[in-house]
Amino acid sequence: MESNTKPHILEVSPSAKWIGVLDHNIVSFDVVMETRYGTTYNSYFIDGPVKAVVETVKESFWPEYERKLRALTDPAEIRYIILNHSEPDHSSSIGHLLGIAPSAEVVATGNAIRNLKEILSRDFPHRAVKDGDTLALGDRVLRFIGAPNLHWPDTMYTWLEDEGLLFTCDSFGAHYADANMFDDRVDPIAFDEAFKYYFDVILKPFSKFMLKALDKIADLPVRTICTGHGPILRSDWKKYVELSRKWSEEYLRYPEQQRVYIAYVSAYHMTGVIAEELARGIRDAGPIEVEVMDIETTDIGEMEEQLTRATGLLVGSPVINQNILLPVYKLFAAVNPLRDRGKLAGGFGSYGWSGENEKLIRISLENLKLNYHGEGLFFKFTPDAAELQQSYAYGRSFGEALLSTAASAE
Ligand code: FEO
Repeated sequence: MESNTKPHILEVSPSAKWIGVLDHNIVSFDVVMETRYGTTYNSYFIDGPVKAVVETVKESFWPEYERKLRALTDPAEIRYIILNHSEPDHSSSIGHLLGIAPSAEVVATGNAIRNLKEILSRDFPHRAVKDGDTLALGDRVLRFIGAPNLHWPDTMYTWLEDEGLLFTCDSFGAHYADANMFDDRVDPIAFDEAFKYYFDVILKPFSKFMLKALDKIADLPVRTICTGHGPILRSDWKKYVELSRKWSEEYLRYPEQQRVYIAYVSAYHMTGVIAEELARGIRDAGPIEVEVMDIETTDIGEMEEQLTRATGLLVGSPVINQNILLPVYKLFAAVNPLRDRGKLAGGFGSYGWSGENEKLIRISLENLKLNYHGEGLFFKFTPDAAELQQSYAYGRSFGEALLSTAASAE
């Protein structure tokens, strides 16, 4: 917190200032995404005869954020709060802000306004806007650009043509906290790594929508992209836009490299040997990458990354006290049915007495909308030679099913 120091505010353009906050202590984003570089919640104040704020910050940072705002203006003079997307990392300070900015109107898509009413549990002065709508800020004009599903259905971009500023919220963002805040002032290698990871986890599943949004902004005379997380792109924004286009096109153009994530825990390696035979069978089925991982100590961010890249998932657990084990429940928590729906999946494991792993794994995967393959593989205590052969055969049939589904989708 910056109680006795000058608030950290940065000039983005003659009228726009960055008034966001840095979060170095975030453990993970949305509890599933690794944030080794921390993150920022970017907000912008647009000064002038009609004052506006674009995005707010996560509520826990409200005192710091309020201090920044008050350093720039009397909040009562804020006329508009532009919200490009209603997820609480950007919107959860709005209730406080409306308390000190009673003349302000929230400007967002209809979907975002509806979400925000639920988030705040009340109504508030608002203006729902659509693609192409404009809003005058004195002699300047904001134009709103529909950008649905980037990364929620309620998303839009905001374009301030007079200063070449494009506010894109999650698009072109990264979980990367550096007080220098501009793309030309941060470590390029670490930032690029964070940018790619953010794209893969947050935006890649919505590549079709990313391409539509990129087409809409292609002819804009952009000078700076004001992101919602991580560095503001004032110098090399074209590079990040082009990377987003390239990765989106690749994702849509090529059938994905088939990749199976075999995630398991094993108390005495009885479940572990099944995992190894499964992997052998899958590899022999054809060109499929296989990642075999004992997830006893794997963090949820790593699981999320693996799941994002996987086209197939095999989950293994023994039974302890009639239940499967905690790391497997963490894995289930990282499954995203929007992204992972229909992926081929299966279960395996050793057990000592009653074999609850078979039912628990199967039901969990099916509830998460994955497509369960066959009966899975569940053996009493140490798998014998015949059971290991059965494991290999299941892996092989799993791999063949994966390749045949991919071929029929082309
Ligand atoms: Fe940064 Fe989808 O919110």
